[in-house]
Amino acid sequence: MRAPQRFPLDGLPSRVEIYEVGPRDGLQNEATVVPVEIKAQFVRRLLAAGLRTVETTSFVHPRWVPQLADAEQLLDLVGDELDDVRAPVLVPNEKGLARALDKGVREVAVFASATETFAQRNLNRTLATQMEMFAPVVRGARDAGLPVRGYVSMCFGDPWEGAVALRQVVDVVAELHELGCTELSLGDTIGSGTPGHVAALLAALAEAGVPVERTAVHFHDTYGQALANTLAALRAGVTTVDASAGGLGGCPYAKSATGNLPTEDLVWQLQGLGIETGVDLEALAATSGWMAAQLGRPSPSRTVQALAQEQVLEP
Ligand code: HMG
Ligand code: MG
Repeated sequence: MRAPQRFPLDGLPSRVEIYEVGPRDGLQNEATVVPVEIKAQFVRRLLAAGLRTVETTSFVHPRWVPQLADAEQLLDLVGDELDDVRAPVLVPNEKGLARALDKGVREVAVFASATETFAQRNLNRTLATQMEMFAPVVRGARDAGLPVRGYVSMCFGDPWEGAVALRQVVDVVAELHELGCTELSLGDTIGSGTPGHVAALLAALAEAGVPVERTAVHFHDTYGQALANTLAALRAGVTTVDASAGGLGGCPYAKSATGNLPTEDLVWQLQGLGIETGVDLEALAATSGWMAAQLGRPSPSRTVQALAQEQVLEP
């Protein structure tokens, strides 16, 4: 089948914004560095498939993430084509913000940790001092009129520390909200969360005064829970869902982090539920098939695989 039958469920939004992270989260973990011209083509094809929010790259330390060391070059290639869309980039600190502003970026994202170990491994900061790094970034970006997304990683479990208490996550999300972040994305970095856990965290955040309209979810699919977790989040009022074309992704500083929720699998489910996304599923799956060929291995997305078997995809 090329499309699911349409059967809406009560209590879900009529439209979902897909926040595509393929060029950033998807490619930051690749063993080889993808040539910048291929990255540019990837971004263009995602836009052509109807995605309207595409996280393009990271202005992090090039030694920490060499895969994205070409952030400036990528924006030189595609910057002019991003005028009508959301095209955020990751910036951890003031140096990253200055680099991003210099390239005319119009939205940035900071990325915090809910746990001590990951704060140290991913940011070279402690849980207590990470906000000192983010505060001037959020202030500087907001003063320049930019929206700022605040990610929180390890919201549903940590590979070194194990269980993560809801309170711990709520505290970090609330801090980013108070700093002035305009959107907050809950990261299941190692994909260990389950739907009841998602509902419990969203309820705890609502109780702490973090508006659900500003909350997004970011599920990695390590344990196959990402789609079920997404449905739980939509039921709780979330309308922005992060996903990665073809299921690329992972974090080089998180042991056992595998691919993100594949955008195609998400679009299949949302189409079946009658929820608008604006995405052309076949064009997107063809893009992921093309990218998989560039990377030399098949896409892990079940929907990309199924559509390829139906031979509906032109690479
Ligand atoms: P540090 O070593 O503590 O940096 O790293 P520093 O502030 O001490 O500076 C040291 C040197 O780095 C200085 O140069 C700075 O100028 C330079 P020197 O004076 O020695 O010549 N420097 C930079 N250069 C270029 N761009 C910059 C930059 N910053 C400093 N932005 C730092 C701290 C945060 C920079 C480092 O830890 C880092 O880059 N970390 C990034 C790690 C990362 O990108 N991880 C993946 C993204 S997070 C993720 O994937 C999770 C997510 O998907 C959600 C989820 O799944 O949970 C978002
Ligand atoms: Mg991620």
